[in-house]
Amino acid sequence: MATEIRKCILNIDPYVPGKPIEDVQRELGIDDVIKLASNENPLGPSPLAVQAVQEAAAKLNLYPDSNCYYLKQELSAHLGVSPDNLIIGNGIDELLTILGEIYLNPCDEVVFADPSFPAYATVTRLMGAKPVAVPVDGHFSHDLEAMAKAVTDQTKLVFLCNPNNPTGSMLTREQIDAFLEQAPPKVLVVLDEAYAEYAASKDYPDGIDYVREGRNVIVFRTFSKVYGLAGARVGYGAADPKIISLFNRVREPFNVNCLAQIAASAALRDRGHVEATLKNNERGKLFYYQKFEELGLPYVPTETNFIFVDLQGDGKKIFNALLRKGVIIRPGDIYGYPRCARVTIGKPEENARFIDELRRLSLGA
Ligand SMILES: Cc1ncc(COP(=O)(O)O)c(C=O)c1O
Repeated sequence: MATEIRKCILNIDPYVPGKPIEDVQRELGIDDVIKLASNENPLGPSPLAVQAVQEAAAKLNLYPDSNCYYLKQELSAHLGVSPDNLIIGNGIDELLTILGEIYLNPCDEVVFADPSFPAYATVTRLMGAKPVAVPVDGHFSHDLEAMAKAVTDQTKLVFLCNPNNPTGSMLTREQIDAFLEQAPPKVLVVLDEAYAEYAASKDYPDGIDYVREGRNVIVFRTFSKVYGLAGARVGYGAADPKIISLFNRVREPFNVNCLAQIAASAALRDRGHVEATLKNNERGKLFYYQKFEELGLPYVPTETNFIFVDLQGDGKKIFNALLRKGVIIRPGDIYGYPRCARVTIGKPEENARFIDELRRLSLGA
């Protein structure tokens, strides 16, 4: 007889990652494959980070610094908060799991937008708690009024993904201020700002301000996106030191490996790489806007490095047809929008190739 499991884990759907380039090459026998599916940095990692990792590789016999001292010092200076306000993790993904382990009991409720980043539902289910998914509004943005109404006595956490994945929409400072004002004090508001650096609007709030103001919030950011280190796995949380100390109780002792720590410090210093990344992104965004308009495809204006677009057809079919042409995008059916797709802004030649293939498909070529 099989050993009994925790039943709640059967409610978790395995994560579906963006299809890796190597899989498409192997399965379809295509060499020239581009991936616009996982919102990675198309310019690659910072060259300074690559060099730092090469130099640090000679010390792989030693355990990493459990406290991430140097990375915290640099982030502290960068963000203007104390190192005691910071927790570093093996990506935001790990920090979300720890968050659940710290706060969630089986009867607790967790409120988040739908569609949004799937890990919020996963960690809620992992802990046997109740996910409360609130549909986005007509502009594909968080419906904060409905989210506020969804908060009950059982609610422990509210996730605000800002800007939101997969829609790219943004909440303004005014909107978040108003939400925080009315939120019950015992509810922890989680601001997932994985794409913060890409947000170009002047109304985009810096979530770290709320930490400085002593609000009951935790802000998550990552080195996976603008810093180009998705493969190294480094994310961080900023919050009151009392909250941070709870993460230190629960996390693994050496949760951030030494190459990741070194790479993140170097990438943080490489402003040139970040600026080039943002410039490429702005250019690609305008290109996509123009081309989607020419093709008559509605899209959600984005504050991120991806765009949610209505393909005006069977999204899965279009996804598969593009795959056969060596172009990987993210089909919208996984988010409940089968006509849509989420497309990462790549290098100019990658964006152009995606648009060309899409145009050919729409012409039936
Ligand atoms: C909104 C959001 N939060 C968190 C993550 C996870 O980030 P990390 O790579 O740091 O685990 C992602 C990754 O795509 C994301 O889109």
